[in-house]
Amino acid sequence: MNAPHAFHPLARLLHWTMAVLILAMLFIGVGMVTTVSGKHQWLLAIHRPLGATLFVLVLLRLCVRLRFKPPALPADMPALMQFVAHASHWVLYGLMLAMPLVGWAMLSAGGYPVMLGSAWHLPPLLPANGEVFAWLRLTHRYLAYLLFLTILGHMGAALYHALIRRDDVFPSMTFPSLAHAPSPEPVITADDASSIPANEAEGHIVEPAAPAPTRPPAAPEE
Ligand code: HEM
Ligand code: HEM
Repeated sequence: MNAPHAFHPLARLLHWTMAVLILAMLFIGVGMVTTVSGKHQWLLAIHRPLGATLFVLVLLRLCVRLRFKPPALPADMPALMQFVAHASHWVLYGLMLAMPLVGWAMLSAGGYPVMLGSAWHLPPLLPANGEVFAWLRLTHRYLAYLLFLTILGHMGAALYHALIRRDDVFPSMTFPSLAHAPSPEPVITADDASSIPANEAEGHIVEPAAPAPTRPPAAPEE
């Protein structure tokens, strides 16, 4: 099967919904641990259910990723750049999965109920243990920093494609209709071809030269 020229609409919807929610989660998380006001409880009450929602969304996204083939990267991209692009995408998937799991495990190890609302709560992932709680808390923090750095690199790469390389990578995740139409083969005539070296004419469509215009016969004199 040929690779499609854009991501499936569901993959694009999930990408942009999750991008907004993850960026919000990073700022809510930092705000939550730095505030000494009463907003801490309010931010935490948003952070936990939003994190759980992101966990469900990333599982759905992985299913969509495995079901629908993604578009291939441009063939003229250097192999190392292609490798870094693919590796960074899998790092992003790994972090999107790990962040909610570590957050959930951290609260379980701290002996806190993982409340998703006033009535809903998740079962503990681990037995209560202060040392494990401290370790997971640091892990959640450093993974969040790593996620933020990877997202910055990812956004830089997306803008490099959109503004500098101007290839079809950005439209493949935004509006596929903006992708460049394949450029038509330049057409040269047999006359042009005979005047340029054979190696330069290679790869062009050569059309037979148009017949030379003939002078219309003169009208008979009266
Ligand atoms: C929280 C923020 C974001 C996350 C976690 C994220 C994650 C991802 C992942 C995992 C992929 C690979 C898709 C796949 O192969 O299945 C991807 C692709 C892509 N993302 Fe993002 N993204 C984020 C934000 C952004 C932003 C802000 C932009 C634009 C400035 C962007 C532009 C793109 C583009 C153009 C692709 C397609 C790359 C390709 O063809 O391989 N992303 N993103
Ligand atoms: C994509 C998902 C998530 C992201 C991006 C995220 C991000 C963050 C960030 C940036 C912080 C601040 C870290 C620091 O500077 O110490 C934080 C703290 C925290 N997160 Fe998350 N988080 C996510 C999911 C979750 C989930 C699912 C839970 C719980 C069910 C959770 C519970 C917590 C708690 C309790 C803290 C405060 C830890 C402390 O007091 O040091 N997080 N999170």
